Amino acid sequence: MTNMKPLRIAGVGYSLPETVVTNDDLTKLYETSDEWIYTRTGIKERRLVSGDENAIDLGERAARNAIAKSGIPAEEIDCIIAASSAPPQLYPAIACHMQSRLGIPNFVPAFDITAACSGTIYALQIARSFIGSGTYKNILIVATDNNSRLLDWTDRGSSILFGDGAGALVVTEAEDGVDDILALDIRADGSIGEYIYMNMPGKTCPLVEPNTPQDCHIRMNGKEVYKFVVKVLPKYIDKCLEDAGMKAEDVDYLIPHQANQRIIEAMQQRLGYADEKVISNIKYYGNTSAASVPIALAEGVEKGTVKLGTTAILCGFGAGMTWGAAIVRLREGIC
Ligand code: UT7
Repeated sequence: MTNMKPLRIAGVGYSLPETVVTNDDLTKLYETSDEWIYTRTGIKERRLVSGDENAIDLGERAARNAIAKSGIPAEEIDCIIAASSAPPQLYPAIACHMQSRLGIPNFVPAFDITAACSGTIYALQIARSFIGSGTYKNILIVATDNNSRLLDWTDRGSSILFGDGAGALVVTEAEDGVDDILALDIRADGSIGEYIYMNMPGKTCPLVEPNTPQDCHIRMNGKEVYKFVVKVLPKYIDKCLEDAGMKAEDVDYLIPHQANQRIIEAMQQRLGYADEKVISNIKYYGNTSAASVPIALAEGVEKGTVKLGTTAILCGFGAGMTWGAAIVRLREGIC
């Protein structure tokens, strides 16, 4: 798009449930070990929702944090996009829940997208087009999933990997003319959709045919996902750097989707980054789907591992298969 209005990342926030489930805890469910899980994935523990709490609550907290940091009053938000692939309800959209819970007025549009773990990057691309074209000015992006409610807790191949959490961003038109998006690209390959999928529950009318039990859990062919991502992602990030007219050393941080520490390390190696430049919290939260990038960013700033006034590569990949990356400016005050 030419003559696009520039975008400013104004605020970032996150929220995690309190309940911690360790790898040792999982040994009560099936045959596994902390050693197996940690060496294969880098995960030691994950946070899971409990009781009445769900992804809408997590999303609300993350959104409140991001809005507070942005300095943009909730009343001035004019579009809400939520990214979720493990929501508590398919509809109303999580974004509609955000509108109501946060008291965002004026019947502003609110909708969800499903791009699994690439959701935040996809949402950022949509928001960028809206802001760039002048359609909307202040957009709230919320990425939230309660994966734990949709996993098969007898399947040790998938349930070790995921956790629950939410991240949020407020993006706005950059009135100073400085665009925080240095490069942004999203991709999909539906022909390998069977690598990660979840069927919706549903029954046939008994007049048509008898109903058979259905599997409605997150299913993943971890090995194929791993091979695909390690083959595609590092090269793809090279291309994004080229789009931004930058070299790897020009960017301060890699803030990747937290799916597997070995995948993160493959990207790190390709970029030639020292450990301090790569943000990883997978050890404590597992894979929180689309929320993982904004959680890693916001928590990194909070802990001082991500300094502001810098630049970062954000990237995600997940069911679809989908993937995407953004090279962004991280201004002071966003978190
Ligand atoms: O955002 C979503 C993106 N998803 C991902 O990024 C997933 C990427 N993939 C992975 O992280 C890895 O594939 C996993 C960690 C999920 C699995 O590691 P793997 O090295 O690919 O293991 P595998 O599935 O090939 O299984 C190897 C062996 C099998 O035993 P046999 O058949 O060789 O006897 C499994 O049954 O390990 C066994 N196994 C386990 N053993 C102990 C599988 N899960 C477990 C477990 N504990 N939790």
